[in-house]
Amino acid sequence: MSVVLSVQNLVQHFPIAGSRSVVQAVNNVSFTVARGETLSLVGESGSGKTTVGRCILGLIDPTGGDISFHGEKIGKKHNVRSRGLRGKIQLVFQEPAESLDPRIRIGVTIGEPLRSLGEKREDRNKRVREIARRVGLSEDALYQYPAELSAGQQQRVGIARAIITDPELIVLDEPTSALDPTARAEIIDLLIRLQKELNTAYLFISHDLSTVRYLSHRVAVMYLGMIVEQGSAQDIFSRPRHPYSIGLLSSVLLPNPNLERRSEVSLQGEIPSPIDLPEGCYLASRCPFVEAECNARMPDADDIGGGHLVHCFKHRNVIDEEKATLDYFERFQEEAEKLLISGH
Ligand SMILES: Nc1ncnc2c1ncn2[C@@H]1O[C@H](COP(=O)(O)OP(=O)(O)OP(=O)(O)O)[C@@H](O)[C@H]1O
Ligand SMILES: [Mg+2]
Repeated sequence: MSVVLSVQNLVQHFPIAGSRSVVQAVNNVSFTVARGETLSLVGESGSGKTTVGRCILGLIDPTGGDISFHGEKIGKKHNVRSRGLRGKIQLVFQEPAESLDPRIRIGVTIGEPLRSLGEKREDRNKRVREIARRVGLSEDALYQYPAELSAGQQQRVGIARAIITDPELIVLDEPTSALDPTARAEIIDLLIRLQKELNTAYLFISHDLSTVRYLSHRVAVMYLGMIVEQGSAQDIFSRPRHPYSIGLLSSVLLPNPNLERRSEVSLQGEIPSPIDLPEGCYLASRCPFVEAECNARMPDADDIGGGHLVHCFKHRNVIDEEKATLDYFERFQEEAEKLLISGH
């Protein structure tokens, strides 16, 4: 598979005014996205998902690490607004209404990226009509203003504006969280269909785990600015290995027919501050399997095959490889209950 985007050891620290401390928003994040695939970034609020997205667009210069698009380095000097990259990486926002100019007609908004690429008005208009049809907007909608459309239709406009340049990568930051369930389902199906037709890569940022499970090829789980685990969506949702992933995903894990007890697990304990992160594993203060080593240093990625990477020293001890999933959940539940990470 051809790699479109490569992110290597990305670090993003934000200075705090009047202080020598920094917010460690992104810590040593690495992943790739291939042509036509969806990689989802999931994690709680503040885990650094949007910051990773902003770095990829080159809107901020990272503190460390490398981002490249087809091997070309992205940063503030060479970003989505630069001549060579314009239109190749697009963005779809969370709030469709806010991302559309209320005084500009829909058709003009959709054609705007082509205007900035210097396309002639006639070609632009033709393409706008074609794209509108593709995303399910009527011809009439092109002459309307954003406020006249429903939230779902507004997001279709956001998507139309993104795909009109035939981008290779679209960063979608919570694109469905402002929508009602029906509109959400329609938009998700539209995104899946468009990806198949256009072979576009998606970096999909979301809290909504059911949506992520439905549309992702691969998933990366973020906690306090680092990726704790990444792998195929199938692996992550059927046999997550990192204790944090299990806690985060427990409500939507694929049902295992052999497992009678399937309760939600929530991790308790103190969450370290992103201003003062520990030297060892960031989950150590909340983990049921913690041992001395976990507090001493940060675990590297353990590759368990098929691109499934787990940043944990202990997951192999916890799991019996022979009986894998079943044992692991049973064991996790037991440990969690014993140590009162609390099951509901
Ligand atoms: N410009 C900034 N200056 C200082 N700190 C920032 C800045 N942008 C983000 N942060 C901090 O970086 C961390 C990661 O924020 P980010 O917005 O990337 O998280 P997120 O995973 O997208 O969260 P959410 O799910 O709420 O959108 C947070 O602690 C946030 O407060
Ligand atoms: Mg965010």
